[in-house]
Amino acid sequence: MIGHLRNATRRLHQAAPYLGKAVGATVAVGAFGAAASLSLASCEGIDANLVGRLENAISRIEAMADNKDYDTSVDAALIAKYSKSSDAYVADCIAKICAAKTSDPSNITAALFSLKYFDSLSPADQKAFAMCINSGAQNADSGMGSYAMNPGDYDKFNPFFSRVIAFYHKVPRGTKHVTDWNLKGVEGLPADGNLDLTRLGLPALSMRVRVGRNLADYPLPGAMTAADRLRMEQKMCGAFEKLKDQYGGRYHSLTPGHPDFINEEEYKALVKGHKMFKDMADDTYLADAGIASDWPVGRGCYVSGDGGFIIWVGEEDHLRIMCMARGTILNQVFDRLKGALDTVESIEGLTFAHSDTYGYVTSCPTNLGTGMRASVHLKCPNLTRDGTDDKCKAVCKPLGLSVRGLGGEHTPIGADGTVDISPSARFCIKEAEIITALYKGISLLVEEEKKA
Ligand code: ARG
Repeated sequence: MIGHLRNATRRLHQAAPYLGKAVGATVAVGAFGAAASLSLASCEGIDANLVGRLENAISRIEAMADNKDYDTSVDAALIAKYSKSSDAYVADCIAKICAAKTSDPSNITAALFSLKYFDSLSPADQKAFAMCINSGAQNADSGMGSYAMNPGDYDKFNPFFSRVIAFYHKVPRGTKHVTDWNLKGVEGLPADGNLDLTRLGLPALSMRVRVGRNLADYPLPGAMTAADRLRMEQKMCGAFEKLKDQYGGRYHSLTPGHPDFINEEEYKALVKGHKMFKDMADDTYLADAGIASDWPVGRGCYVSGDGGFIIWVGEEDHLRIMCMARGTILNQVFDRLKGALDTVESIEGLTFAHSDTYGYVTSCPTNLGTGMRASVHLKCPNLTRDGTDDKCKAVCKPLGLSVRGLGGEHTPIGADGTVDISPSARFCIKEAEIITALYKGISLLVEEEKKA
């Protein structure tokens, strides 16, 4: 433990000269906060979570220190040049992203936006790049603030995206993602290989594992035309015919006039049953990225005969593929998803967008790599006694877990204190490590709930 601490301090010193910028400062506060708690904790024995937090914060500082040749300051002459741009979209986007640098230092896109880099791009690429960052410009309170518009954008705008990705995922720039679903040998896996919740004293829980996938031959959802959305849905309907042979069920379409069209009432019932996604236009982050455009054209979901295997079409990624079940063995949904994905990937004509560096390509840089979110609904009445998930979030963050409401991102917790818990990491982590991290996280949270 002391070794870790020494190493962390050394890294902190090395990064120190480059900490002048807004995000650097935010991260530094985080690091010093963790260090302060750590020195307090050292009186009572060092807490592994605090060392973890310190190391995380230092990784972020190192990502910032990598910006020596990348200027994120705002040059007055350049801002004047672009605020007079004949393209009103570009002018507005650039003015707002620069303003967000000071108003919202935790907006990663704003913090790492370089006007000099932007100025070096061709007019066509400037427009394409503005589309990637517009969500963070219009919604200054964004945490991430950007979405790729085409699978190639992560490489095309590499000076920007590589920094955003390194910073958010806390990995050195250029780290290659490796896909691996094999549970064998994963740290924390019980000897029999079963991630069994009854061992943690829990009853059957609602378990869900999803991955985001995009087809290689279309723009990502933010840049699709209505015609692209229709063609993509049509292509997937061919694939669903094949899936029906193995999994039964049917496709439900929101596209007016589609043979599988469902009415408003049927749609609402699917949303209520957590099988279908909500009206995306209500999400201003997605709307300002163009991802919610043309709603509800080309949107729908395939649901298997038993309701446990679902594919969303046309949400934040072309496809969100998921398996869910009420049960006690996490492997059940994980293994089923792997099998279902292999089936989908083997269908002729379906090629998922994939990058040698970033793994599976998703619209949002936060989901790159595995695109995986593995979650359970867990009752935490003690930690949520005040009616909010604040305490639960505070406990979960150092455990590497995210807390959400029962209706997904930005929704309230259940009235009985039920929250949705999932490992936060998606990139440069193996799929098998995510599901194991969920099991480990649940076991730690159960302990914290008992203490609360
Ligand atoms: N764009 C939003 C932000 O930057 C959400 C990012 C993460 N969530 C997501 N669904 N991709 O805060």
